[in-house]
Amino acid sequence: MTARGIHGVWGSRWTFTLAATGSAVGLGNIWKFPYMTGENGGGAFVLIYLACILTIGVPVMIAEVLMGRRGAMSPINSMRHLAAEAGAGRHWHALGWMGVMAGLCIMAFYSVVAGWTLHYIALFATGGGPSAPAGETFGQLLANPWRLLALHTVFSLITALVVALGVNRGLGAVSKYMMPFLFFSLLILVGYSFANGDFAAGARFLFHPGFDEISRAGVLQALGHAFFTLSLGMGAIMAYGAYMPRRAPIGKTVLTIAALDTMVALLAGLAIFPIVFATEGLEPSSGPGLLFVSLPVAFAGMPVGGLFGALFFALVAVAAWSSSVSLIEPAVAWLVERLQWSRWRATALVTGTAWLLGISCVLSFNLWAEFKPAWLLGRTPFDFLDFLTSQLLLPLGGLLIALFVGWVMRPQDAAAELRFARQQTFDLWRFTLRYISPVLVILVLIVGLVDSP
Ligand code: PHE
Repeated sequence: MTARGIHGVWGSRWTFTLAATGSAVGLGNIWKFPYMTGENGGGAFVLIYLACILTIGVPVMIAEVLMGRRGAMSPINSMRHLAAEAGAGRHWHALGWMGVMAGLCIMAFYSVVAGWTLHYIALFATGGGPSAPAGETFGQLLANPWRLLALHTVFSLITALVVALGVNRGLGAVSKYMMPFLFFSLLILVGYSFANGDFAAGARFLFHPGFDEISRAGVLQALGHAFFTLSLGMGAIMAYGAYMPRRAPIGKTVLTIAALDTMVALLAGLAIFPIVFATEGLEPSSGPGLLFVSLPVAFAGMPVGGLFGALFFALVAVAAWSSSVSLIEPAVAWLVERLQWSRWRATALVTGTAWLLGISCVLSFNLWAEFKPAWLLGRTPFDFLDFLTSQLLLPLGGLLIALFVGWVMRPQDAAAELRFARQQTFDLWRFTLRYISPVLVILVLIVGLVDSP
């Protein structure tokens, strides 16, 4: 039986688009993109990131969706099927396994950060926002391992609930309502920044590339982030593709998703940086806390800022939630297919594993803050898992997807799945996927890893 039989099919093309956008849009856009941009000097990073989305992200995403739909099972089994169909060796199965691993590792730190957003919802809903300076409030949160653990646990449980119920039941509906609201509240925040922040400085920081600001390791971060933000290279999009109706047009859908995802990231940047430049004590390069220390400044200055702050962080939490679901779905789908486990049991095992691993990320901010052993490449567990996945596993997974679909899969099979209206579109996509994307990924990986701190 195929995944469409076991796990269900999306209701329509729109449901796939919504669910995949739900997977793509998340903490990567609102939390990670701004702080990485801040750490890497702004404009040049943004430009390289956009170039990566276009030349690597979009073609690889098309490839990953098409693999999923053609394989029609969990990523691991889809890989088996596709490798057999193309007459390729068993070593391609590794791609599916690597993705499952990457998903667990991302989930471990992702749900810790998502926990921070839960804390901020409560903070704004109960007291109208942090009373101490925003930086202090955030510092106190990080210093409290029990609170972080509790938040991490709550978020893991909420994620597990949806996965156990079956992603195609509730997720489409959730994304449908969340996405417009998220967009709208980001627009309000950008409006606030425009009126009250240093908008010119913020926009200049984001869009004026100064190439001496960015290191080679920064270029790798931009590439890695292009994969991370589109949920590429680990099977999430492949798993969702497996539930996509046969007739839905892949190319157009992928372009829509990539455009929405990019817009959310840029809007988040445009909301945050003008505030950062207009507020004493805030630095663009302040790291993972950037979102949590800058936006409360805006909420404090708004008429119904407490309510709006709670609402905004709730939207971010929902966005994180619709992404985290896709992080564990590939592993769950595989357990269900392979061992005929119930979704509940599979979900418990997979989420539980990620949760355990996540404890090391909770401790990275307090008790283990100085634990940076050589075997974690001199990083805390939190930083290591982020590095391992975004800058290694996802680009590697994306590279293998490009190589598989570009060089191993028969072109007529790819064409049959894609059904582009024009032959030129297909040729352009295939050329990019065969030559441009892989070469760029390999180059950036080599150069970036050599230079990584
Ligand atoms: N794309 C998600 C985000 O930007 C994170 C994610 C990565 C989700 C990989 C699934 C797979 O927040």
